[in-house]
Amino acid sequence: MAPTKPTVAVTRKIPEAGLVMVREATETRLWEEELPPSPEQLAALLRGCDGALTLLTDDITGDVLDREPQLKVVSNFAVGYDNVDVPAATARGVAVCNTPDVLTETTADFAWALLMAAARRVVEGVDYVRAGKWKTWGPTLLLGRDLTGATLGIVGFGRIGREVAKRARGFDMRVLAYDTYQDPEVARSLGVTYRPLDELLREADFVTLHVALTPETQQLIGARELKLMKREAILVNAARGPVVDTDALTDALRDGTIGGAALDVTDPEPLPADHPLVFLPNAVVVPHMASATVATRDRMAETAARNLLAVLRGEQPPHIVNPEVLERANG
Ligand code: DGY
Repeated sequence: MAPTKPTVAVTRKIPEAGLVMVREATETRLWEEELPPSPEQLAALLRGCDGALTLLTDDITGDVLDREPQLKVVSNFAVGYDNVDVPAATARGVAVCNTPDVLTETTADFAWALLMAAARRVVEGVDYVRAGKWKTWGPTLLLGRDLTGATLGIVGFGRIGREVAKRARGFDMRVLAYDTYQDPEVARSLGVTYRPLDELLREADFVTLHVALTPETQQLIGARELKLMKREAILVNAARGPVVDTDALTDALRDGTIGGAALDVTDPEPLPADHPLVFLPNAVVVPHMASATVATRDRMAETAARNLLAVLRGEQPPHIVNPEVLERANG
């Protein structure tokens, strides 16, 4: 008799590249809706599962894990894993995996797309044309900010922050970075200077956020920090929404405390369609799409599938957030 396959929940349709791998090796319960399962629907989907391939929209709490003591692995289809209570998972012997490396460059590219869109008022330009306002070339029409020679402040100098820094070279920018962990060798090789956060905020013309969401980075940028920034500065967030205090940012954009913002992520997420940030001309808001290219989402799906299946087979997954769980299990 063929050995029984493990049962796994996949909480949304992911690219076929990874789904095929999961389907071949497991009894797969796929959540096929466009919207994420509610907490009750998630609980029903996970019931009796050996593993789960989850998205950043699924809240995997200690309570969720308590209901499924047989669960061995939560494989998140994202590099970020703030939707998973990792200490709770570790305490219960559940491996938590993520998808770093495969989206680094794609996300850095998009941070630049946002920065340039805000600096050069691309969205306002599109709106202007669509509204039928384009009557002639105008010497003072939609004037933006130069990137060349400007100072870029990178908050969070990990994988993605470093790729953002590499791309700044093409614009001859001065690049500052803030991180609690510092690697002077990497900074030197990229021509980047570390600064304390407040100094970076005071000096930078563009501030781009690339920190993970942790209790320490929750609302890292609030009213006080926004006031430190230059009046014409532009803030880019391609990290996690709660790193920025949304109300403080809305006020700062309205009253000219800073020049503009470009947000891939928001708090709350999604941002309600009638939220003031959606309508402010100096805000560019897009729906959490920095890693959204065909190739990158395929790689994320494959990595998430590999992580999931490796743990279920008792093998070392490519990317595990809490390796102590497997070390413990293997004696
Ligand atoms: C992540 O991976 O954490 C992004 O936010 C989605 O790609």
